[in-house]
Order: sequence, then structure tokens, then C-alpha cells
Amino acid sequence: MLPAPEIEVAPDPSSLMELAAEHFLRIASESIHSRGRFTVVLSSGSTPRQLYALLKDKDMEWQRIHIFWGDERCVPPDHPDSNFLMAVETMLSHVPLPATNIHRIPGELKIQEAAERYEKDLRQFFNDRLPRFDLVLLGLGVDGHTASLFRGSPAIREQVRWVVGVNHRRPPAPVVDRITLTPLVLNAARNVIFLVTGVEKADILKKVLRGPSQPDWLPAQVVEPAQGNVIWLMDRAAAQDILPSSKQ
Ligand code: 6PG
Repeated sequence: MLPAPEIEVAPDPSSLMELAAEHFLRIASESIHSRGRFTVVLSSGSTPRQLYALLKDKDMEWQRIHIFWGDERCVPPDHPDSNFLMAVETMLSHVPLPATNIHRIPGELKIQEAAERYEKDLRQFFNDRLPRFDLVLLGLGVDGHTASLFRGSPAIREQVRWVVGVNHRRPPAPVVDRITLTPLVLNAARNVIFLVTGVEKADILKKVLRGPSQPDWLPAQVVEPAQGNVIWLMDRAAAQDILPSSKQ
């Protein structure tokens, strides 16, 4: 049986982001110490914005950090919905990160081509071996999705490809097609951190963490790295249904 994920609860979103930044720095420094580099997959949506804004002011060995994305919307990189653009604006344009360390998903290409191109880039960077990212950051949608693994999507059960295109034709917004890493890659990670805030996530968080396993309906449940550490970081509002008396 896989070890139970760690759960850490912070009193409010700001202290949660401080906690997430501490984990990010710790894992970055351990990875650079052990392997000479830190490979991290960024999450998107609105939750991690504040984390990225904090990280941009941290003293890190940026030239040893390689940035990847867990998913992307099929839009050009300067589009307001671009996950790449969000990370650039909040963090990447403010830090001394070499351009060659930024491995974005080409959302401007046709869906299939974009997925193939990103997988090719990953294969090149990781010498054709399944990537073991040092850290994968993930969010949780109110419907239980994570990255761009949406309810009922065949991407949840993908066994071969590292990256797939997802036709996304109904909410959650934005309703544009997506490119996503598959569970194959997410579950090879050394560390996964889910970042969840707000009372509107309390119910789904309880279902994902405490409910029966039904990953086709609750895609975040598919994330169970066989040899990796999973930490769920949440604020008290999001945690209210699972830890009614939690204090930190
Ligand atoms: C995306 C995301 C997605 C996100 C969740 C949570 O591109 O939309 O990768 O999986 O992390 O939807 O989003 P919020 O933080 O906005 O609730």
C-alpha cells in the first residue's frame, strides 16, 4: 500500500503560500545538492499566483532550476489565458533564469502537434527516460480535476503517452482545448504538492482525500506516485470538512 499523503493546514491563504514557498525552497536545495539541478512542474489557475510572487524574491540558484508546466491552454503564449504567461508575469520575468531553462508547452500549435512537441522536448531533456520531476505542483478544481485531467477524460487512463491533448468543450473555464501531462509522468515525480485554498474547495477536497477511489470522476485521485512524496497544502477554509478541529 502507498503511504498516506501528508496534509498540512495553514490558517489563511497568505500563510499557506509562505509554507508552500518553504517546501519549494527545501526541495530545490535538496535536488540541487543531490543531482545538480532542480526540475519543477508549475501548476496554473489562480491559486499559485501568490506563491510565484513570493518565489520571485527568494534567493535561489536560478541557473540550476528548470521550469516545466503540468498543463497549458491551447492559446498563444501572450494570451491572457496562457499558463505560461501567468508564470512569466508573476515570477519568471523577475528572476535570473536562463531562457534555455524554460520549457513551455507550445499552446499556439494545433492540439496534437503541441502535445507531441512537448513530449519530444521532455524526451530530449530527460534522455528518453520517463521524467522523474523533483517537484510537481498541482491545483484542485471544484469538480475534482487536476492539471487538465478532467472528469471522464481518457487522459486519466493513458498508459503510454507522457503528454496528451484534451478536447475541453464545457466548463470549468476557460473552455479551450488543453495539453496535459498524463498520470504516467505525474506519478513518476519525486515530490508532488497540491495547493488548495478556499471554502468552495472544502467539499471536493473531502471527496478526493476521504471518499472512495473513483479517479474517472475525481481525477486528482489518480495522482499517487509510487516512489514519491505527496503533500496536500490547504488553508483552514478548504480543510474545514476533513479536519474540523485542525489547528496550526
Ligand atoms: C488550469 C490548471 C487547473 C487548476 C485548477 C485549480 O490550467 O486551469 O492547471 O488544473 O490548477 O483548476 O484552479 P484554481 O486555482 O483557479 O482554483
